[in-house]
Amino acid sequence: MESEFWLERWNENQIGFHQTDIHPMLVKHWSALTQPRNNVLVPLCGKSRDMHWLQHQGLEVVGSELSEIAMSDFIEDCEASFTSRTVAGLTSHKAVGYHLIVGDFFALNKSQIGAVDCVYDRAALVALPTEMRDQYVEKLQNLLEPKTEILLITFAYDQSKRDGPPFSIDQQEVERLYASWCEIQVLETVATDEFGDDNGTTESCYRLIVG
Ligand SMILES: C[S@@+](CC[C@H](N)C(=O)[O-])C[C@H]1O[C@@H](n2cnc3c(N)ncnc32)[C@H](O)[C@@H]1O
Repeated sequence: MESEFWLERWNENQIGFHQTDIHPMLVKHWSALTQPRNNVLVPLCGKSRDMHWLQHQGLEVVGSELSEIAMSDFIEDCEASFTSRTVAGLTSHKAVGYHLIVGDFFALNKSQIGAVDCVYDRAALVALPTEMRDQYVEKLQNLLEPKTEILLITFAYDQSKRDGPPFSIDQQEVERLYASWCEIQVLETVATDEFGDDNGTTESCYRLIVG
């Protein structure tokens, strides 16, 4: 999915992926991550309210998002007071507990986001078609140090019956993308009627540990 696709979704407020509740798998499984952590990278973050929950756990949330609309909405929903700065086309909105970066995740480098202690991926990997998933994982691999943990939430369903996004990411695909550089632990898989069809959809939560 190219940038224009997502910017248009935000412009037209077609954001069915946005959830008003905190994701139950985040609340249930966040404690499965064991490494010490002060911050969390949330790639392709949208205006996810899960970021509030993470910030309330005492973490600095480093969010990466293409859409300024998403970021403005999120900031409006925050009690924190933000300062904004644009350098070389990349806008950073900072407040206590938040560093929100508006721009292309694929163009980010380590110096722009700083050291990352852990990652929360809900609806980021599943938002991307195969080729972009490979690029996304390569980018994460460049940004993350050994022992960094990732909490990953995915959907799996019969892709022949429905187009993405969200795309179907089964365990085999998670292994294809991460097994060469991460240890993979399945924390939970549940049946879900997220798409309101009878497509045998499941939602899974993984703990990935960079090797
Ligand atoms: C399916 S939504 C998920 C948003 C969020 N993770 C959530 O759970 O609500 C995917 C988000 O990724 C953003 N996005 C897509 N491509 C991106 C990119 N290259 N860099 C940064 N953000 C991107 C889109 O604008 C969109 O908000």
